[in-house]
Amino acid sequence: MKVVNISKLKIGTRYSKPLYLDSENIFINANTPITDEDIARLKKFGFNEVLTDGEEVKDMYSISLTSDMQEVFGNTSLREIYDKYVKELPTFNKIYKKSIDVIQNCYQKIAEDKSFDINQLRNITEEIIDFTKTSENVSFNLLQRKNEDYYLYNQVLHSTIFSILIGLEMHYSYPKLVDLGIASLLADSGMIKLPTSISQKNSSLNEEEFKVIKKHPLFGYQFLTKVLKIKNNLAVIALQHHESFDGSGYPQKLNKDSIDQASKIFSVADNFSAMIIKRPWRKKQLPYEAMRNMLSVNMNKFDLTILRTFLNCLSMYPVGSYVELSDSSLAIVLKANKEKSLRPALMILKDSWGNRTNNSLFVDLLHENQLYITRAIDWEIETENE
Ligand SMILES: [Fe+2]
Repeated sequence: MKVVNISKLKIGTRYSKPLYLDSENIFINANTPITDEDIARLKKFGFNEVLTDGEEVKDMYSISLTSDMQEVFGNTSLREIYDKYVKELPTFNKIYKKSIDVIQNCYQKIAEDKSFDINQLRNITEEIIDFTKTSENVSFNLLQRKNEDYYLYNQVLHSTIFSILIGLEMHYSYPKLVDLGIASLLADSGMIKLPTSISQKNSSLNEEEFKVIKKHPLFGYQFLTKVLKIKNNLAVIALQHHESFDGSGYPQKLNKDSIDQASKIFSVADNFSAMIIKRPWRKKQLPYEAMRNMLSVNMNKFDLTILRTFLNCLSMYPVGSYVELSDSSLAIVLKANKEKSLRPALMILKDSWGNRTNNSLFVDLLHENQLYITRAIDWEIETENE
């Protein structure tokens, strides 16, 4: 075996065969990156050299050599951005749970044809807005939720949060954002008026059943304006959220500018949210697939300026979703790069050899031209055997 002086060992490099302390004791396995802790340990125990039959592996592209914790995004390091997400998570979960309780409470009242205090929706909307405003990007924590509760409430809440994100990006004033949020939370209130055999059916709907479903916008709007007596701009999303920009939607077949802007925002948010949540009769789509779908086959259904705004917020590989890179490493998307939606900033979760990186490697693809995303992945499937 040849002798390698520890001054020649570089952090992040790997050897094709193990590194030994002596003829019997392996210090570092083959293809395992050398860490600064390894070198510190060798020095501590008085080893000046190691033995190996291997060669230093020349990576096709080594993330660890070109990226580090100093990688910055604007004025903030990617590590700081990730730490902020982690710090925000308990608050996010608290607001999420509280919102579900409020939606459930209001929708139950609607089911019983009873009036309720709209201020509970206003209060929770303000909490969502305040959080979304100060959060690094609410999509990061939202996309990692496993939504096991009742589909309708999760769906409405997801769509509301994404709507507020779009409204913020469009520089909506605070009162306008609050109206957008309340109207979004009430969007599917008409669903609660339908027979549960149809609204909660665990398989795809036949033509007759779909005709019934198509009544929910009108049922919702009627309740909100006649029983709850709320102003039109808080009820308009309930009426128009299934209208399409190309006129192919329902119930009034409105198109383009005859559709209220808030409804067009909710429509983008709602379609995206629906595609990424699993239903008993269909698989969920990955966030990337949902985004691609909206930007291609279904593009005519949406107001393109609003769709573009949504893409700017989330990127083609949405913030909080998972990807594989050209060097086989796996990563989570941390930040969208507005001008280059295919090149977001990432945190590497597993390196090219499948080793966990302990959340310490960050890459901004905007500055890493040799590395690119090869596909979107489902993290649960990638890690199910671990
Ligand atoms: Fe709906």
